[in-house]
Amino acid sequence: MTLSPIRRMALGAPEGTVSLALGEPGWPVPAEAREALATLSTQVGPLPYGPNGGSPELVAQVAAVHGAATSEVMLTAGSQAALFALFQTWAAPGSRVLVPDPGFVSYASLARLCGADPVPYRLGDHGDLDAEALVDALAGAPHTSMVVLNHPANPTGGMASPAALRAVAAACARAGAVLVSDEVYRELWLVRPPAGLHGAAGLGAGLVLGSVSKAFGAPGLRVGWAVGPDRLLAPARVVHNAMTTAAARPSQDAALALLRAREQVLPDAREQVRRRWETLARVAPRLLDAAGGRARAGFYLWLPLPEGVAAQDTETFALRVRDEGLVTTVPGTAFGARGRGHLRVSLGGPLPELEEGLARLAPWWEA
Ligand SMILES: Cc1ncc(COP(=O)(O)O)c(C=O)c1O
Repeated sequence: MTLSPIRRMALGAPEGTVSLALGEPGWPVPAEAREALATLSTQVGPLPYGPNGGSPELVAQVAAVHGAATSEVMLTAGSQAALFALFQTWAAPGSRVLVPDPGFVSYASLARLCGADPVPYRLGDHGDLDAEALVDALAGAPHTSMVVLNHPANPTGGMASPAALRAVAAACARAGAVLVSDEVYRELWLVRPPAGLHGAAGLGAGLVLGSVSKAFGAPGLRVGWAVGPDRLLAPARVVHNAMTTAAARPSQDAALALLRAREQVLPDAREQVRRRWETLARVAPRLLDAAGGRARAGFYLWLPLPEGVAAQDTETFALRVRDEGLVTTVPGTAFGARGRGHLRVSLGGPLPELEEGLARLAPWWEA
């Protein structure tokens, strides 16, 4: 395992470089979270660990958001810790774990950490879930312990249809593989809410991940969760306790305030995302065209290299754009072999930086 390629792109960037590399919201953290933290700072007395399973009020809010029972929630230090605990529990050593390619960089690393073998599966057009390709990959990979989905996807913005989710859930059930659906970007939709695993195939179909890091605008809190059948979560909770006891108490208080205010916080976040896609269309319409011309859920632009730049030069090109154009993106190869020929551009950052970064990036796509 090495340093994440996203961090590697940031290291060694010349002074004055604008970053469009980090996958996090760059808008102000909602007031509800700040107020909860401020209230805590005035409290005299101990600051206890709290229950290992997290604050019961927060667990109840997560359960309410997902229409689940509290026993069907595992509260963790970010969804990253949920992934870690679930992989440690269910990705058996020597088994295979099916991961999307291109896909979020952690899945393959987490599989390797368990002594499991990550097997990349192909996605459909625009990064959408291609159930047939995944079911075929599953048939060709005996001893698969886990299958990971991610929609809306990082880095492509790809989606999954309810029918595709049902087909994959049925195949995983037949193969005895634990299905994990990473839905941390699900609330950042533009037109209508995307399909999710539980809505399409029922809560018993697998585990769904959520987080306050994206739509709730607070990645630094490190609060996330997994929702699904208690029998899959119970042993993973033990792993999470062994790793980190529980998510930090002040963060849980702030996360509780955010979830309680979701009727306000989530539409505000969607408005922030809409503004970013609008900024792209205004400042760099050529880039939007190159990427298929359509805004997608979440805040990633999956951008094909300009005409005339060879796919095998993806990393060299990303470094040139960084060092000569002073804007950092992530080479698609960071997300798997099938990411060759693309850059991931994050639109999530603060608007002035986004505008400047896009203005620097656009000329590279001019004929
Ligand atoms: C697809 C995906 N899943 C999970 C995570 C982890 O998020 P967190 O641990 O902040 O909840 C990220 C972070 O970028 C992500 O992009």
